[in-house]
Amino acid sequence: MSKGGILSVVGAGFGDEGKGKITDYYANNWANVVVRANGGCNAGHTVTVGDTKVALRALPSGVLNDKVVNIIGHGCVINPKELLEEIDKVQSLGFECILFISNRAHIITEYDIAYDKATGGKIRTTGNGIGICYAERALRNGIRTCDLLETPEKIKELLKETLSYQLYNDNDIDLDVYSSILSEYGKSLKEYLCDTAISLNGYLHHNDNILFEGAQAAMLDNSYGYYPYVTSSNPTTAGLSVGSGIAPKYFNNTIGVIKAYCTRVGAGPFISECDEELANIIREKAHEYGTVTGRPRRIGYFDCPIVNLGKQLSGYDSLAVMLLDILSGIDELKICIGYEDKSGNATATYEYSPSIERLEDFKPMFLTVPGWKEDISSCRTFEELPENAQNYIKQIEEFTNLPVKIISVGPDREQTIIRDI
Ligand code: IMP
Repeated sequence: MSKGGILSVVGAGFGDEGKGKITDYYANNWANVVVRANGGCNAGHTVTVGDTKVALRALPSGVLNDKVVNIIGHGCVINPKELLEEIDKVQSLGFECILFISNRAHIITEYDIAYDKATGGKIRTTGNGIGICYAERALRNGIRTCDLLETPEKIKELLKETLSYQLYNDNDIDLDVYSSILSEYGKSLKEYLCDTAISLNGYLHHNDNILFEGAQAAMLDNSYGYYPYVTSSNPTTAGLSVGSGIAPKYFNNTIGVIKAYCTRVGAGPFISECDEELANIIREKAHEYGTVTGRPRRIGYFDCPIVNLGKQLSGYDSLAVMLLDILSGIDELKICIGYEDKSGNATATYEYSPSIERLEDFKPMFLTVPGWKEDISSCRTFEELPENAQNYIKQIEEFTNLPVKIISVGPDREQTIIRDI
């Protein structure tokens, strides 16, 4: 990796691809600044350091490295209670948690969460108030981190303006008490708040190594994913630019992170979904349950059209394929290389139907390839992988037209194959 500039790590599927491990890797080996610029605590990144597993939801993965500056940009939405708890957790593990939070990022209130829980059922949102908070931002009646530095009386006035308070004024949440609580959170967060867009542009022009950690993934993009079964931000490289205040022209190195199979939580179409027997094997072996919600994840085969769609949106330069070790011991593997519509016509990625009803008629077109039996978790080079595992990766490269530069074969930092291609 060259000195200076931006590396973006974004999800190339439906989220939960293991981006945390990749950002953690670059946070340790290259970056001195790690940035989150979209989403909130709907994300869930589990990072393993030695014997300790740390589930991060709102904090950038660089907090587990004391040489790294971490930034939460103005494109994020912040649950102050959760964030402060997470900072405490990281500090109690002995890390310093060097952190700056945008003074323009929006705050998720308890009213937002209550409203999301009451209405998010159809989409099966994570119930964290994310969409409601972003809606308030768009409606211009949201509350920002800078507002938490105001008096409780002023915060109370602002809260009364919010969409969620007006539509879902849950009597369980006392407005006076809650305004004071928010003001207390403001006091605790104050030391972290600043104009992070200015800081970041400063780091960029000082030739620092800036790592962007995308949350969620291309298929959950609010405008281009399987709407309405999407999140409320733009989890693409472009979204990282908007959410951080660094101009798009500097984002010229993007890694799309994808699992060696496909998973999704939440409702909505999932064309390459596999049968429950194989899904169970993979789910139990890889513990495919949501980090945030604990919900069992739906499992499917590797889906090349999805990667190709995300490539258009985010301009991946390469792929990181995660959890390849999980596929050991499966006799025969399938790779979804295209879709077929109701009349049996093959479709290309760019012909995705915007209609969810029509998408549900689409069938996957599979390439079947032989699996491998060997445990690959101690392989450290591509050449050490069994031939069939190498071929599996080569097929992914062929049907996505992208180099697979990183292969993860286990949760530990060391269980990573970096290819010089
Ligand atoms: P929300 O982001 O909580 O509003 O949820 C909207 C949709 O995005 C739901 O289908 C969620 O399951 C999904 N989603 C949000 N965040 C993540 C994530 O980090 N991983 C996977 N799915 C997510």
